[in-house]
Amino acid sequence: PKYEYIVVSRPEPSVVLVTLNRPKALNALSSPLFEELNEALEQADRDDSVGAMVLTGSEKAFAAGADIKEMKDKQFADAYKNKFLEDWGNLSRLRKPLIAAVSGFALGGGCELALMCDIILASPTAKFGQPEINLAVTPGGGGSQRLVHAIGKSRTMEMVLTGRMVSAQEASDWGMVSRVVGEGEAEVVKEAVKMAKGISEKSQIAVQACKEVVNAAHELNLAEGLRFERRIFHGLFATNDQKEGMAAFAEKRKPNFTHS
Ligand code: HXC
Repeated sequence: PKYEYIVVSRPEPSVVLVTLNRPKALNALSSPLFEELNEALEQADRDDSVGAMVLTGSEKAFAAGADIKEMKDKQFADAYKNKFLEDWGNLSRLRKPLIAAVSGFALGGGCELALMCDIILASPTAKFGQPEINLAVTPGGGGSQRLVHAIGKSRTMEMVLTGRMVSAQEASDWGMVSRVVGEGEAEVVKEAVKMAKGISEKSQIAVQACKEVVNAAHELNLAEGLRFERRIFHGLFATNDQKEGMAAFAEKRKPNFTHS
């Protein structure tokens, strides 16, 4: 196979499933693993036959964080010059939806990886945490920022300052994940694939546009965000899919989108 640390499959013709596969290290996110992950997801993003992607780990661990053994002897100059972990952000630039199916530990970089995805589905066994404080560092993959948006300052401070693991139910109550589903890894993946397949059947132009406008809420103030949303909305009236979608509604039939 092409990859050593991940497994890439097609559970549905329109869905790419990426499974992190470093079981002995609880899917610790080493640099080579992340290179493979970026490559696989970027390839899926470019593939016209793919509508959405799902990212998962194992029953025991989605990912237990950045690879501590790889990091421990790093020096500032090397980390800074070589942009240590900066490529992680590539994942948040995908145009197509990426759904995280989380079972077991999602800690440190693993929690941040889930937060970079567009939707998080959690199995009841999922445990989220930012334990970097115990290693005498801060989160480094966006956790401190994305968590504040997701769950607010006080809860973020609690997670980041105490390192406490948060259960799936708590994460759901806090709005950090979309839902708790099923009983374990297999079921949460099944649900995520089903969701990805459903999204693939929509107009891919509209899906990309929806993802773009929602993400803008993290970056723009309200007035700018509202203007941005309206412009994108207006722009979609130039697409065939908008004509088809609205005509199909009026004619009481299923739309046949051409993604154009
Ligand atoms: C490297 C790791 C690892 C990690 C686990 N392992 N997490 N290796 N980096 N993050 C390895 C262990 O060393 C061990 O290898 C094997 O996986 C099994 O782990 P155990 O600890 O034996 O399992 P268990 O007792 O079940 O405990 C599970 C655990 C614990 C609670 C998840 O492994 C743990 O605390 N891991 C570290 C979590 C963490 O601090 N994450 C944040 C990392 S910092 P051996 O060879 O001994 O069998 C980070 C910064 C983000 O993520 C920056 C992003 C840009």
